[in-house]
Amino acid sequence: MINRKKIIAGNWKMNKTQGEARVLVEDLIRDIGKFDEAEIVLCPPFTSLSAVSELLSPVPNIKLGAQNMHEAASGAYTGEISASMLRELYVRYVIIGHSERRQYFHEDDATVNRKTKAALAAELRPIVCVGETLPEREADKWKDVLETQLKGSLAGFGDKELADVIIAYEPVWAIGTGKTASPAQAQEAHQWIREVLKKNFSATAAEKIRIQYGGSVTAENAKELLSMPDIDGALVGGASLDARGFTGIIKNACLK
Ligand code: PGA
Repeated sequence: MINRKKIIAGNWKMNKTQGEARVLVEDLIRDIGKFDEAEIVLCPPFTSLSAVSELLSPVPNIKLGAQNMHEAASGAYTGEISASMLRELYVRYVIIGHSERRQYFHEDDATVNRKTKAALAAELRPIVCVGETLPEREADKWKDVLETQLKGSLAGFGDKELADVIIAYEPVWAIGTGKTASPAQAQEAHQWIREVLKKNFSATAAEKIRIQYGGSVTAENAKELLSMPDIDGALVGGASLDARGFTGIIKNACLK
């Protein structure tokens, strides 16, 4: 069986000023700066990337991620940020197509596909988010929704591209609601994602790719979720804003 190293990412969303970010990162470095059992990624807002990057430069175990980027290399896109701007700040990961981007900023699978390609071209590792809404889950359409999102978001990708992609399964009904998918529900969805990748892309990539679960992950539920065979990490929102919550998730879920 393939060994997929767990990857835990904190998505701070639109939270933390630069000063607040420094405090949190200093606490995290103290608590988990040497933690080697998982890959750890912090995704602060753009305005704190530079400060967090500096703090993390002597800490190889904690990597920097961004929450979004624009697909173009440069140009007249007021308010946007390009992949090369992120690279210059030693950003290594970028979240693409988060459900909040899809919902509030009208990003569709085609946009996600273009952004993911641009991220890979700049040697950033994209964390591509997929997930169904509550009505879609209740109508038992979640499998179709995930398949459509994956086919659209990863269109044109082969083994080479998929080797650097991380998928985040984030059921929209579980994000910020305190309503977590049960470990069995999450496992079923992750297994389905792997099947879709195998059927439409590549069996090798499907086996190797890491799939994070996201949606109300806490220090209390992380262990059970991450012990499922197809759950390779977590994309954490609310609980990543507090050092104790985030380190609790990492230690509970990843310590052998
Ligand atoms: P949550 O957010 O952990 O606050 O539910 C997860 C996410 O949106 O990435």
